[in-house]
Amino acid sequence: MDGVTVIDHPLVQHKLTIMRKKETSTGSFRRLLREISTLLCYEVTRDLELTTARIETPLEVIDAPVLEGKKLVFASILRAGNGLLEGMLELVPSARVSHIGVYRDHETLEAVEYFFKAPDSIDERLVIVVDPMLATGNSAIAAIDTLKARGATNIRFLCLLAAPEGIKSFRAHHPDVPVYTASIDRQLNEKGYIVPGLGDAGDRMYGTK
Ligand code: URA
Repeated sequence: MDGVTVIDHPLVQHKLTIMRKKETSTGSFRRLLREISTLLCYEVTRDLELTTARIETPLEVIDAPVLEGKKLVFASILRAGNGLLEGMLELVPSARVSHIGVYRDHETLEAVEYFFKAPDSIDERLVIVVDPMLATGNSAIAAIDTLKARGATNIRFLCLLAAPEGIKSFRAHHPDVPVYTASIDRQLNEKGYIVPGLGDAGDRMYGTK
């Protein structure tokens, strides 16, 4: 699918299968999400531009590769996005973090924004927006609308599972934003859940109902 990368690394797929199982405990779900998020982060950042910096090893001076440009921003769509943040920050500890609060109105399934914090100069940074589930796409679309309104132009979206309906809507609204996901599931059900899916990601990672 154009603009969509499915991260089919065997470790990602294996861990995802365990996360989908209904008997997987909250603790295991959280640990797997942290582990999987490092692997997803590795893939979503694999083409970042490099420059060189002059350094001195114990033996000689070299021009060695370092990331080009300003620090990355990981933008978490609350609350489930935070589950992806931890592992990503382990891999890129200097990344800046944005939090975007958009909740899904259970009647209309529309996104409503209630919180926004972002570092300065988001217009000069790569922003990787994270949310485990791209279901209707409404929250992700709204979060990226907000980021663009504040000047962001270089954006990627990373999730764990996506529904075909969500991808279609997302790509129609934000054709310039590539999507990275570990799986494109069959469909959305009438309640807006991804099926077969893994249930409510926030509830599963925090043990709520
Ligand atoms: N959000 C979730 O956590 N799960 C779904 O299946 C859909 C949206």
